[in-house]
Amino acid sequence: FKVPAIDNEPMRSYAPGSVERKGLVEALAQMEKELPFEVPCIVNGKEVKTGKLAKQPLPADHAKHLCTYHEADQATVAAAIDGALAAKKEWESLPWNDRAAIFLKAADLVSGKYRYKLLAATILGQGKNAWQAEIDAAAELSDFLRFGVKYVEELYSQQPVKNAAGAWNRIEYRALEGFVLAVSPFNFTAIGGNLPGTPALVGNTVVWKPSPAATYSNYLVYKVFEEAGVPPGVIQFVPGVPEEVVGQAIASPDFAALHFTGSTLVFKKLWKDIAQNLDIYKSYPRIVGETGGKNFHLVHPSAEIRNAVTQTVRGAFEYQGQKCSALSRLYVASSVWNNGFKEQLLGEVASLKVGPPTDFQNFIGPVIGRPAFDKIISYIKKAKDAGGEILVGGSGDDSKGFFVQPTVILTKDPKSVTMVEEIFGPVLTVYVYEDADFEKTLELIDTTSPYALTGAIFSTDRKALLQATNGLRNAAGNVYYNEKCTGAVVGQQPFGGARASGTNDKAGSISIFYRFVSARSIKENF
Ligand code: ALA
Repeated sequence: FKVPAIDNEPMRSYAPGSVERKGLVEALAQMEKELPFEVPCIVNGKEVKTGKLAKQPLPADHAKHLCTYHEADQATVAAAIDGALAAKKEWESLPWNDRAAIFLKAADLVSGKYRYKLLAATILGQGKNAWQAEIDAAAELSDFLRFGVKYVEELYSQQPVKNAAGAWNRIEYRALEGFVLAVSPFNFTAIGGNLPGTPALVGNTVVWKPSPAATYSNYLVYKVFEEAGVPPGVIQFVPGVPEEVVGQAIASPDFAALHFTGSTLVFKKLWKDIAQNLDIYKSYPRIVGETGGKNFHLVHPSAEIRNAVTQTVRGAFEYQGQKCSALSRLYVASSVWNNGFKEQLLGEVASLKVGPPTDFQNFIGPVIGRPAFDKIISYIKKAKDAGGEILVGGSGDDSKGFFVQPTVILTKDPKSVTMVEEIFGPVLTVYVYEDADFEKTLELIDTTSPYALTGAIFSTDRKALLQATNGLRNAAGNVYYNEKCTGAVVGQQPFGGARASGTNDKAGSISIFYRFVSARSIKENF
């Protein structure tokens, strides 16, 4: 059989008066009325209420929380691991078309029945505005699931190209021996679905620890998997204290792989901890991670200014700069900067509305929580102390929620702290280079930060695009010409970066599936 043709999920506009606007507003009102929800761990398809309670607050409103969740204790994590190991044989040996059908159904539940609920949970709990939530929890999530099925079909068809007379060679793509640990972030509900979903699609069973700040939306993703027919034990939902759950999982001899999205610091620590445990494992664990970024836009003297400004505003400030791909350092030619770019940029940034994400007027919502707020504000201060000039924004208000004004800093020092370190907030630092120094600027971009996730080049001159692409060969895993450095689409721009940004296994492509299978060559003589 062949999997049916697939396409990217069309994005809805949520225009005033539209059916989808009405549907989402109703879902938001309902969720706000019913919160806080109680979220259990789910092990072997059964709810586990440990009584060890934690809250997922609303980033826009200190007075409320979206859910109270049961943190997994040691016994729960142990049961999740045992159950995942027990469920594996049947799951792995299920005919592929059955696994495919389950994930195609999950995609349909995301884009249909659960759409507004997933969006509402992402808006309230993670602070995305409606359009950012739509990109994530509706479009990207269902795309990961649908395209994932297509990629696995393609993977399984990768077979030896030659057979000697009287023999047939084939490759079997087995699931890994043991269980996979998925550790997902707060900033994309879609990644919450993708980190357990990708390994499960190829027959693995998964212990999944969601981010505390995305517990409720991720719980809904779990409910989608369950309703679609993912059998008990295949995906174990174990929210909890990250170090505890993850520490226990990687101390198991059956730990087979880590599928991680989060900070560089945590990923490096986990890698070292895994190395320490190496002797207890049956196999060398697969380690797949997507981590930090210090993403750039480079604006050449030939750039089309209007477009470069719009893309810059969107790249830096959509979702408050909390996408791993978000723009945070801008290198702009002085002729462009002084001929309208600066004025247009500052005008547009100053006009961005900041406020609760439930209000469709607001472009900028809250940042995710207290540590994020404090970190962002402290970076703005550091930039000022180092002689940076705040051109717009520069302050925050945490009286009701965690709101930070979109901020643009001009620096004369291209190696100043906010050009180098990841902030993960709505802060853009600008360095204006002399037009004649384009080549030198490439070198600067390449050597300034340890990261290499995304970048964009703005130019109408093909020679300049080529020069920059070559000069920045290793500076980003995703490069865009004349478009912002965020917004990779599943199936269109495989996503991920190298250096301190991750293992570059490319989410949203066939490549990542190779990491979660262990191939076996079989030669049969006739
Ligand atoms: N896929 C997301 C983006 O590129 C992370 O913005």
